[in-house]
Amino acid sequence: MLINLNVNPEVRAKNVKRCKEKGILLPTFKEMIDPSLVSEDIKKKLDNTGLWDVDPVNLYRITWHNEPVSKGGEFGGVNFLEVPREISGVKARIIALCGKWFPCGVHKVGATYSCLAPALASGTFDSVDQQAVWPSTGNYCRGGAYNSALLGCQSIAILPEEMSQERFNWLQSVAGEVIATPGCESNVKEIFDKCHELDAERGNHIVIFNQFEQFENYLWHYEVTGRAMAEVLKQLGVKDENVKAYVSATGSGGTLAAGDYLKTLYPNIKIVAAEALQCPTLLRNGFGGHRIEGIGDKHVPWIHNVKNTDMIVAVDDNDCMDAYRLFNEPEGLKYLASKGVKQEDLDNLSLYGISGVGNVLGAMKVAKFYELTEEDVVFTILTDSSEMYTSRIKELEEKLGVCDHDDSVRIYYQALMSQNIANMKELGYYDRLAIHNLKYYTWVEQQGKTYEEINRQWYDKDYWTDIPKLTAKIDKLIEEFNADILA
Ligand SMILES: Cc1ncc(COP(=O)(O)O)c(C=O)c1O
Repeated sequence: MLINLNVNPEVRAKNVKRCKEKGILLPTFKEMIDPSLVSEDIKKKLDNTGLWDVDPVNLYRITWHNEPVSKGGEFGGVNFLEVPREISGVKARIIALCGKWFPCGVHKVGATYSCLAPALASGTFDSVDQQAVWPSTGNYCRGGAYNSALLGCQSIAILPEEMSQERFNWLQSVAGEVIATPGCESNVKEIFDKCHELDAERGNHIVIFNQFEQFENYLWHYEVTGRAMAEVLKQLGVKDENVKAYVSATGSGGTLAAGDYLKTLYPNIKIVAAEALQCPTLLRNGFGGHRIEGIGDKHVPWIHNVKNTDMIVAVDDNDCMDAYRLFNEPEGLKYLASKGVKQEDLDNLSLYGISGVGNVLGAMKVAKFYELTEEDVVFTILTDSSEMYTSRIKELEEKLGVCDHDDSVRIYYQALMSQNIANMKELGYYDRLAIHNLKYYTWVEQQGKTYEEINRQWYDKDYWTDIPKLTAKIDKLIEEFNADILA
């Protein structure tokens, strides 16, 4: 089984006891997909709880349906926005889910919860005597440390030293231990090395939740993110034939899995994996440092279903940082208003984090590549928001000065309107196989995966479709766990 659901009764009993003492209940996948199923008791508690409060009831806010308020929100429709055409410069509609309204401001809280919840409910993780380790280049350790704190267990966050200062400041306040590894965004090998070191030193005292290989991460996005997107498409009345593409930059490859769900509903949809041009691993087997925090780690994640990926698009991180600057500086906003962007859309620009900007640029390139028309939709995702990166704006101001009118004009035409179809590749069978084969060097040679399993990922037709069959089993484990807490 790709997700370990074997029950360890002794450890499970310890976890039940701890959750009982702390008044913790765990949401099921069903509830994360459709939070109208959440009990009235829980909703009442949410009425008095802030979105970022370290309070276990916030586990029930691990859903795309949160009311977009910082305190007391219950549930409503899926949080999404449409990128105005004055910004995209393309005819097609670009629709994006918004991650800002998750607890602690990042969608990664979902992927981490989906790793932790089955481990608690089955007893494969001991919340009393073990520490949860969250290796990450982006928000995964943020979500992991936060969820660990909600559940009252110890955590270790591992991330590269060059990540934004906000990330470190906040983590220091939530995680038990924060470990900075050498390098920047794309230095994931150093993170894996640190995990091996910790494993050797601390052995059974830690459990490493490795997002790059854990199918719980894949499953959460398949079930929760994918269904949220489908709900939006239904709500907007988009015809099936107009659902053209899903674009997601890959870090762990988890978010991309929403595309696998969408493809079950819209078989012609193109699943597009985006990355930074400065680190074009999927496009060119390339490597390099870049500034799109959270994505592009110089390897192909184990949980990336390469066989189902239709296109690679590489986005220039200069365009990304430029557009991020334009969206967050007063002169930039003034200029966008002069180009006809409405106030509501200007207000929404704070919902784009750096990788969100990258995703939207990728979606624009895809719309141009396929010459999409007004009825067509490209779906993408804003995994967090600009509040995660305010220090980056300060750094850019120090380096380049405050963004003025001339900068705004240049950025508007260069980074937005001039997006083109360069650095993109539609994948044929052997292009996909070439990307899949790259997994060998990271996962079989270095990280202990087997030759047999890497081949199953490619040749076994049930390998990927078996994963969502585990959702009902996980929900049953969680329901039984909750029942024991309440008994
Ligand atoms: C800001 C940001 N965007 C995008 C991603 C990529 O998401 P995934 O890891 O699901 O591929 C991450 C991952 O950590 C992230 O932190």
